[in-house]
Amino acid sequence: MLKLHLVGPACLLLILPLAGCGGQKTANENAAPPASAPAGGVADTAARLDQGPRAAESAVDETAARQGEALFDARGCSGCHGFGKRVSGPDLAGVSQRRTAQWLESQLLHPDQMAKEDPIASDLVKQFSLEMPDPGLTQAEARAVLEFLKHKDRAAGGSGNAGK
Ligand code: HEC
Repeated sequence: MLKLHLVGPACLLLILPLAGCGGQKTANENAAPPASAPAGGVADTAARLDQGPRAAESAVDETAARQGEALFDARGCSGCHGFGKRVSGPDLAGVSQRRTAQWLESQLLHPDQMAKEDPIASDLVKQFSLEMPDPGLTQAEARAVLEFLKHKDRAAGGSGNAGK
């Protein structure tokens, strides 16, 4: 009889904290933030392209960067863009520190659409009184050019025109 009395409360002491832990966990799971609101229109989509880390924050694929450099000349980019100098298009020095990879890829693949829908690109069109023509790159080529832009900014020592 005496033995049973001792075992009973000891079991309760062990079980209660465990049960408490279980309950806590469920409460935390329920406290997860609600799914974000559905996207609302073009401006939202465009703004999302420029959200997150800048392109320069990811490692450079040097093999792709070399392909990108060749494309930069072959596709006439250098006719409108310089690094550290302004030609008819924006100076591309530091561009991978100003923009996200996603934004740059979109600009390289669909400059026409970006000029219409993206707030940054449409500001640039106004500023330069010129719209960038579609260079007709494949996605792989656009990514190679992007790696080249990152490579240039890294080679320049990482300060560039960040923030402009
Ligand atoms: C006929 C001139 C012209 C050519 C050719 C051209 N661009 Fe552009 N580019 C522009 C102009 C003007 C803008 C800004 C207006 C806009 O976005 O349309 C721009 C914008 C950009 C931007 C965004 C700059 C920033 O500050 O965010 C990048 C990156 C870029 N071009 C890369 C390229 C690459 C790479 C090529 C070649 C595949 C290329 N451009 C070909 C004129 C040109």
